[in-house]
Amino acid sequence: MSQFRIAPSILSADFARLGEEVRNVIAAGADVIHFDVMDNHYVPNLTMGPMFCEAIRPHTTAPIDVHLMVKPVDNLAAAFAKAGADIITFHPEASDHIDRTLGLIKDAGCKAGLVLNPATPLSFLDHVMDKLDMVLLMSVNPGFGGQKFIPQTLAKVSAVRQRIDEYTAKHGGEIWLEVDGGIKVDNIAEVAAAGADTFVAGSAIYGQPDYKAVIDAMRAELAK
Ligand code: DX5
Ligand code: ZN
Repeated sequence: MSQFRIAPSILSADFARLGEEVRNVIAAGADVIHFDVMDNHYVPNLTMGPMFCEAIRPHTTAPIDVHLMVKPVDNLAAAFAKAGADIITFHPEASDHIDRTLGLIKDAGCKAGLVLNPATPLSFLDHVMDKLDMVLLMSVNPGFGGQKFIPQTLAKVSAVRQRIDEYTAKHGGEIWLEVDGGIKVDNIAEVAAAGADTFVAGSAIYGQPDYKAVIDAMRAELAK
């Protein structure tokens, strides 16, 4: 695995062939499966519950990165841990007790992370850095695949990169910095230059017939 991770979002996959879509994208060189959970409450869309996670689990050994766009969070976080998730992230403003929710995810044996929307302040990270395995920065407003990358995210990526580097230099450990929304072959390099190491891409990968060609092109951009 290179220092950069490509995380296709199965939100844009063919749901009638989900297991095969997961296998194909990993065979094409992806590192992580990004799994978008929407509840028609926190976001105006409805997707997959824990049963879907359980169903795809046997199709890959790659980490399943569950992005919870739900409110409340705790009940579903526990259910996804049981269903085979490796990483569970949630939006802090959707949880009444952020520290407790992070603890619950970690106690269930998963990696935990916070997701910040384009206008959510970084101060949500202030008192929980020790519990984070990932920070996920949204580069679109959550709820739908296929939206346009919001360029103001780049400055936020750099700011979080700095926080993570300062924290890990002092305390050790590893915190992934993932960016989600509107990532394509033609902008992945600038997102990486800003400091991201993990890239979610839904429509850019699943919208093309040749997944390997897209992932290879992304890696070529990252290697520049
Ligand atoms: C949006 C989701 C994203 C989405 C990304 O709310 O969190 O993961 O699937 O899709 P693209 O890459 O098409 O913007
Ligand atoms: Zn997502």
